Amino acid sequence: MYEIVVHAHVYCEEAILAFLEENNIRSAVGVTPSEMEESIVFYLGEKEWVMFRERFTEKLREISRIFGASFPKISVTSLDDTLWRDAWKRYARIYRFGNELIVKPSWRKLRKSYDCPVVSIDPQMAFGTGGHASTRLCIRHLLSIRRERPECLREVLDVGTGSGILSIVAVKLGAGRVVATDIDPDAIEIATENAVRNDTAPKIEFTLSPLEKIPGRYSLILANIYESVLSKLLGEFSRHLQSDGLLIVSGLMAEQGREFVKKAERFGLRRVMHRFSRSWVSYGFEGVR
Ligand SMILES: C[S@@+](CC[C@H](N)C(=O)[O-])C[C@H]1O[C@@H](n2cnc3c(N)ncnc32)[C@H](O)[C@@H]1O
Repeated sequence: MYEIVVHAHVYCEEAILAFLEENNIRSAVGVTPSEMEESIVFYLGEKEWVMFRERFTEKLREISRIFGASFPKISVTSLDDTLWRDAWKRYARIYRFGNELIVKPSWRKLRKSYDCPVVSIDPQMAFGTGGHASTRLCIRHLLSIRRERPECLREVLDVGTGSGILSIVAVKLGAGRVVATDIDPDAIEIATENAVRNDTAPKIEFTLSPLEKIPGRYSLILANIYESVLSKLLGEFSRHLQSDGLLIVSGLMAEQGREFVKKAERFGLRRVMHRFSRSWVSYGFEGVR
């Protein structure tokens, strides 16, 4: 197994991650060596890397040209087959959200104690360490909801829970009750373990039920999924939203944003919040009353 680390300019990071995602390659953003550089790490078998290398290099050339950055440095290390499964863990990092919240990988220790909630996640094979900008955008929305509209935290629906990260953060920030769903049975198992690890399990109901089978309406719906899935689920989001509730969507590339907002309007949803992080965008919608 090969560990491939790409040291890229921060402007290129999202485009590289999107290309890896399009090719079904799971990647992580690692420890930042400098303010302007990110380490993107992924793992491929020897044959797959040989087949992918040329196309990847070509894409990196194109991305560097578009963003006016120099060609990234790539380091490739051959790993013992028994070691690679955990190798990415070295790159997962701790995220601080001001003085309000810390999200950390379960295997990392904090050097001191903090006077704010700490969420500890082991994502295993599920998505959601806080390493991806789309997750952090949702967390920032959650923090501002706690400050400005705490009543929305009454009943939360987390669609595409992955590692359970958003449900757990919601409970740590005061959510009354959370229903969390995913189509991936492994994610539900992993999310349940994370909820137990963070003493939030009693408030979260994890389910494999598809959204259309989940009863009730919610004061807050969180959905960090891809654009195509979010678009398909708009009708269900609208149906599950309380009249004074908020829907937070994330996982959209900036250029998909405008079209997505138009589609959402057709389902009676009105954009009331937005946040950007590099090439990602996340929105808050209210139902039209
Ligand atoms: C990008 S991950 C988000 C994980 C986590 N919520 C976060 O914010 O980091 C998207 C998750 O949505 C799940 N998913 C994809 N389509 C779905 C659907 N139609 N209904 C529910 N979950 C879905 C995937 O299995 C995956 O775990």
